[in-house]
Amino acid sequence: LVLILDFGSQYTHLITRRIRKLSIFSLCISGTSPLKSITELNPRVIILSGGPHSVHSTDAPSFPDGFIEYVEKNGIFVLGICYGLQLIVQKLGGEVKVGDKQEYGRMEIIVESDGGLFGSKKVGDKQCVWMSHGDEVVNLPSGFSVVARSQQGAVAAIENSLRKFYGLQYHPEVTHSPEGMETLRHFLFNICGISADWKMEDVMEEEIKVIKTVVGAKDHVICALSGGVDSTVAATLVHKAIRDRLHCIFVDNGLLRFKERERVMETFESDLHLPVTCVDATEQFLSKLKGVVDPETKRKIIGKEFICIFDEFAQELEHKLGTKPAFLVQGTLYPDVIESCPPPGSGRSHSHTIKSHHNVGGLPKDMKLRLIEPLKLLFKDEVRELGKILNVPEAFLKRHPFPGPGLAVRVLGDVTQGNALDILRQVDEIFIQSIKDAGLYDSIWQAFAVFLPIRSVGVQGDQRTHSHVVALRAVTSQDGMTADWYYFEHKFLDDVARKICNSVRGVNRVVQDITSKPPSTIEWE
Ligand code: XMP
Repeated sequence: LVLILDFGSQYTHLITRRIRKLSIFSLCISGTSPLKSITELNPRVIILSGGPHSVHSTDAPSFPDGFIEYVEKNGIFVLGICYGLQLIVQKLGGEVKVGDKQEYGRMEIIVESDGGLFGSKKVGDKQCVWMSHGDEVVNLPSGFSVVARSQQGAVAAIENSLRKFYGLQYHPEVTHSPEGMETLRHFLFNICGISADWKMEDVMEEEIKVIKTVVGAKDHVICALSGGVDSTVAATLVHKAIRDRLHCIFVDNGLLRFKERERVMETFESDLHLPVTCVDATEQFLSKLKGVVDPETKRKIIGKEFICIFDEFAQELEHKLGTKPAFLVQGTLYPDVIESCPPPGSGRSHSHTIKSHHNVGGLPKDMKLRLIEPLKLLFKDEVRELGKILNVPEAFLKRHPFPGPGLAVRVLGDVTQGNALDILRQVDEIFIQSIKDAGLYDSIWQAFAVFLPIRSVGVQGDQRTHSHVVALRAVTSQDGMTADWYYFEHKFLDDVARKICNSVRGVNRVVQDITSKPPSTIEWE
């Protein structure tokens, strides 16, 4: 195990992901975790992440007391990145000063000694790296040597191979450090002697074993499928472990996309052979949403109705099986787990309110379900990889995210106004199909149409019309936290707008949303 101690850098997740890409299992915990949390994981290598602090600030986070003694006693290799390097220097008796020459962005470093951290690089060799630091190392602890310096002469890499401490002042984990991945690879394989033995097949087998043990031979498990990648992969995995003791529910709340219910059920039943109860709750949801215009109120109503349906499902199952379902499957991912316990001062948001409305976290307490979260150590791309091994169709795994409240956040205002939902479904389908036909679907994080609660004047077939306006939104993003709007060719937009106005009755104007997030959000409500 390679353990990453997080001191609040925005790149910490990336270090974990890069190492897993090398088929090495890595985990990330807060840099200020107690020593016991570290020793329990029994790591071979520990990486200290970067962070926004200065080691001199009063609230500077640090590893726990006894950390240095623990790693030295157990022969654990330690690599400090940026703040992590400065922490090593300061704690081992060197000196870090507020730098005269702050270094931010892309710059060159020059190798000063060969054979160590940079493997086959020779003295004088240069490489481009991504720096982001204000403080600077001015005195090394005894026994350490400088392996590379920046062009301005600042320490860029250090090591003490005897004590197994290493440090990089720059960020090897970001793509702006083109040789960074090679440096991490060399450090882990050649210096630390770690082997590449973390494979998704093994993860799957291990998870199946755990699920079998936890659930035992008799208990039943329920799962709400949203039609999204995470819940589908989680359910497929649990199904492989306990077969027909898994009971899934898929709710059509009347807020799904064009033919969504049919398409999703087809995948569940024909491709994955998942036992799914499909509930058509369109009337139930839409009657509760009638006349409601406030976005948050809409969300709350949807969350509440969903829980009612889930509760009924659990009761029916209890009646049928003669025993209460004991477990609930959730598709929680690793970023959710890390984000829920951010390191001090990281400035990372605790707010996961977006999701908590719509996953089934708010279930009635008397259901007393225990959680099974088989994906909670995986990142999204790893879930996709696992899904592939579980035979979830590739097209399904690559689907754009779809929000829990569905089209309710894309029909602005009252979702039951006129035939808004119907119009939106048709427009959205044309837009998405055109994106697929143009081969652009996989380059876009998320694309959809929005129904605006206004009418504008137009002229169609020599007649004046007073019809609806729809907006098209397509964004690129890494994780949905920030996003940029997608640049379509004018010809593409022209074709799509024409197709929409020609084939969807009630629409005479199409606009495109060209704002990034921030200041906008991806969804309009
Ligand atoms: P925003 O609109 O906040 O969206 O920029 C970021 C990502 O989250 C999705 N989203 C939601 N997902 N329930 C969900 O399950 C919600 O209430 C919700 N609101 C937004 C959105 O589609 C985008 O991918």
